[in-house]
Amino acid sequence: MRAAITAVGGYVPEKILTNADLEKMVDTNDEWIRTRTGIRQRHIMEDGKATSDICVEAINQILKKKNLSPNDIDLIIVATVTPDHVFPATANIVSHKIGATNAFSYDISAACSGFLYGLETGAKFVESGKYKKVIICGADKMSAIIDYQDRNTCVIFGDGGGAVLLEPTEENGIIDSILKSDGVGKEFLHQKAGGSLLPPSHETIDKRMHYVYQEGKTVFKFAVTNMAQVSRDLMDRNNLSGDDVDFLAAHQANLRIIDATAKRMELEKDKVLINIDRYGNTTAGTIPLLLSDFEDKFKKGDTIILAAFGGGFTWGAIYLKWAYNS
Ligand code: COA
Repeated sequence: MRAAITAVGGYVPEKILTNADLEKMVDTNDEWIRTRTGIRQRHIMEDGKATSDICVEAINQILKKKNLSPNDIDLIIVATVTPDHVFPATANIVSHKIGATNAFSYDISAACSGFLYGLETGAKFVESGKYKKVIICGADKMSAIIDYQDRNTCVIFGDGGGAVLLEPTEENGIIDSILKSDGVGKEFLHQKAGGSLLPPSHETIDKRMHYVYQEGKTVFKFAVTNMAQVSRDLMDRNNLSGDDVDFLAAHQANLRIIDATAKRMELEKDKVLINIDRYGNTTAGTIPLLLSDFEDKFKKGDTIILAAFGGGFTWGAIYLKWAYNS
């Protein structure tokens, strides 16, 4: 028995932050941002709302599409680096908010690869035969940890995310995956304070240590090499050529990283799903947002490769066959 994605939902908050808006906040310009990253705008969540609210919106779309009651859900996994609180898990809050009284729930922390880690984990629960309806969310309110005085990071990230429903299937579904991590990446992409090593203090706040710290150039090099390689490895071990793959749904961190991955996979341009221009990098949110935005393009039996790279470092790729016509 395999696990298949049988429904998707996606959500971004209404408020838009354009490149022109950012020009007024830091020393940057629209041309630099577009040519270096491919981003035109990103969505920003209002105060008082959190990552759990993104998940709730996406899950409610799924429940409506599938005519399900929240009580039908067995398990909810939320992948995020911007949980509502350090504890409890955002997934606990989400299941309470939607009224999923029969579900157990927990979070996964794997930065931009979080959704793939969640999908792999959720699929194993379904394949075990014990759980029939598993929700995987990938969502981040990155604006909560971005320094809007730091041009190196504030132009890249945005808020948003999505969710998928996993159910058992005899055909199609998730076929293979390769997931990796290497803690060497911590040095180049992390949040310095707020955890148990450096709990919040006046000093950590004064030194702006609660924001994303990134050495962009180094992260870029690791991302290009690893996301392309893992995607190619997954294709090779399943005897897939570029012609066999219908779509690449890659983490939307930088258009140039996505292009390099597609090139390594020998994919035609129209098979590469892109929405980074509208949302920026929503961390764990990018891949479910892609699946939600492009769901209408997918046909039952289509071969789709999901690929991600993120903080940790974490990276990976998943090979699946789409299970339904939408
Ligand atoms: N606007 C204008 N100039 C900027 C800028 C901005 N927002 N940010 C940086 N610059 C400047 C730099 O200061 C540098 O100037 P200098 O040459 O005078 O020192 C110049 O632009 C080039 O910077 P560099 O960092 O070499 O640019 P880059 O081509 O590597 O692009 C990133 C920067 C961040 C877009 C790119 O490195 C990247 O996408 N990295 C990966 C990020 C990522 O994927 N993170 C999430 C992990 S999944």
